[in-house]
Amino acid sequence: HHPFSTNDKGNLVIGGVDSLTLAEKYGTPLYVYDVGIIRKNARSFIKAFENLDVKAKVAYASKAFSCIAMVQVANQEGLCLDVVSQGELFTALEAGFPSERIHMHGNNKSRHELKMAIDHQIGCIVIDNFYEIQLLEELLQQEGKTMDVLLRVTPGVELNTHQYIMTGNEDSKFGFNIVNGQADQAFQLLHNHKHIRLKGLHCHIGSQIFETEGFKVAVDLLFEQIEKWLDRDGFKPQVLNLGGGYGIRYTEIDNPLEYNVYVDEIVEAVKKNSERLNILMPEIWIEPGRSIVGNAGVSLYTVGSSKEIPGIRNYISVDGGMADNIRPALYEAKYEAVIANKATVKPIEKASIAGKACESGDMLIWDLPLPETEPGDILAVFATGAYGYAMASNYNRLAKPAVVFVEDGTDKLVVKGETAEDIIKNDLSYE
Ligand code: LLP
Repeated sequence: HHPFSTNDKGNLVIGGVDSLTLAEKYGTPLYVYDVGIIRKNARSFIKAFENLDVKAKVAYASKAFSCIAMVQVANQEGLCLDVVSQGELFTALEAGFPSERIHMHGNNKSRHELKMAIDHQIGCIVIDNFYEIQLLEELLQQEGKTMDVLLRVTPGVELNTHQYIMTGNEDSKFGFNIVNGQADQAFQLLHNHKHIRLKGLHCHIGSQIFETEGFKVAVDLLFEQIEKWLDRDGFKPQVLNLGGGYGIRYTEIDNPLEYNVYVDEIVEAVKKNSERLNILMPEIWIEPGRSIVGNAGVSLYTVGSSKEIPGIRNYISVDGGMADNIRPALYEAKYEAVIANKATVKPIEKASIAGKACESGDMLIWDLPLPETEPGDILAVFATGAYGYAMASNYNRLAKPAVVFVEDGTDKLVVKGETAEDIIKNDLSYE
C-alpha cells in the first residue's frame, strides 16, 4: 500500500533514489521525504478548490512536520502556513515565508508569541480564549496596530461513536463553546473592535478523519450561530476556516477519501448555508497537516539484535523507535514496513519490530510479515511523514535523526542528525 517502487536490485526506491544508498550515505535512523508526493498532495487540495471556482486558502499545518526546507516547499506550492508556537513562527520567518500568509493558533499563546505575530504582521491570529483577547488588546493598543483574527469556536456536537468529535466536542480545551454562549460573548467583545478585525470563524473537529459527515455537521452548526449574529448585528463572515483532519492510509485498514471529496462536500455545505442566509459565500480556509506530508515520509532503520521466544513471538530490534516515532507507543498507531534491501522478497515469517529505548512499550510494529531478516538489513517504515520528526524526543539521550529530501533522483540533507555533542550542548557543569 505504499507509493514507492523497487529497482532491479530488489531495493526500495524513494523519489528516484535507492533507499540503501540513502541509508549508507546518511546513516540510520533516517527520515526520508519524497518531495514529489508532498507537492502532489498540496496541489490536489488547491486544485480541488480551483475546480469549483471558489475563493479558498490551503494552509499547511506545520505542526505535522516543520523545518526550514519544508516551509520553503510549502511556500513554493503557494500554501499558507499554520503555526502554533514561537518555534514554528520563527522557522517560517527564517525560511522566508511571507508573513501575510501565516496564521497562528494555540490555546495558550504567550504574550511574547502574540507580540511576535503582531511585530511581523502575520496574516491572522486564530483567537482561542478570553485571556488571549485581553493580551491582544493590550499589545495592539500599545503598538497602535490592528490585527485580523478568526474566532475559534467549539461547535459542541456529542456524536460519541465518531472520532471527529475529538476536538470539536463541548468538553474540549480549545476554543469558545457555542452551546453555553461563550462564543457569543467573545463575538460581542470583538465585533466592531478598534484594533481587532474579526474576519470570520474557525473550527477544527479532529484528526485522521475518513468521512465528510463531521465537517458538514460542523458547517451547519457554525451557520446556525452566524445566522444569529447576522440577524442581531448584521455580521457577515468573510472567512470560514474548517481546520484540518483529512485522513491518510497507514495500513490496509485505513480507507482515506480522495482529497477533492472533502473539499467538494465542504464547499457544498458552505454554499448551501450561505444561500439559505442570503449572504455572499465566505472564503473557505482549510489546514491540512498529516494529509500533506504523512504518506511522503519513510523512516529507515538498521536491523540489529533479535530475540526468539519459541511458540510466542520473534522480536527484531532496530536502531530507533519511540524517540523518533512516538505514535505507536502513544496512540497504538499502526504502520506497514518492508526490508528495504529485500523489498521484492516474499515474507515467510512474522516478527515484531522493537525500538531501542528502555521501555517495553517501545514497539514500532507488532507481528509484521517479513522475509528472513538479519542484522544490517534496512527496515523502511511507511507513512511516517507527519508527527514523526515533529514529535521526536531525546529520550534515553538518543540523538534525533537527520531528515533527507529526495526529488527526481536527487537527495539533499535538510536537517542534520544530532550528534552526541548536540545532546549535551545545553548542559552546564555542577562542580
Ligand atoms: N488545525 C488545527 C487547529 C489542529 O489542531 C490540527 C491538528 C490541524 C489543523 C492539522 O490536523 P491534521 O490535518 O494533521 O490532522 N499528534 C497527532 C495529531 C494531532 C493533531 C493536532 N491538531 C498524531 O500523531 O496523530
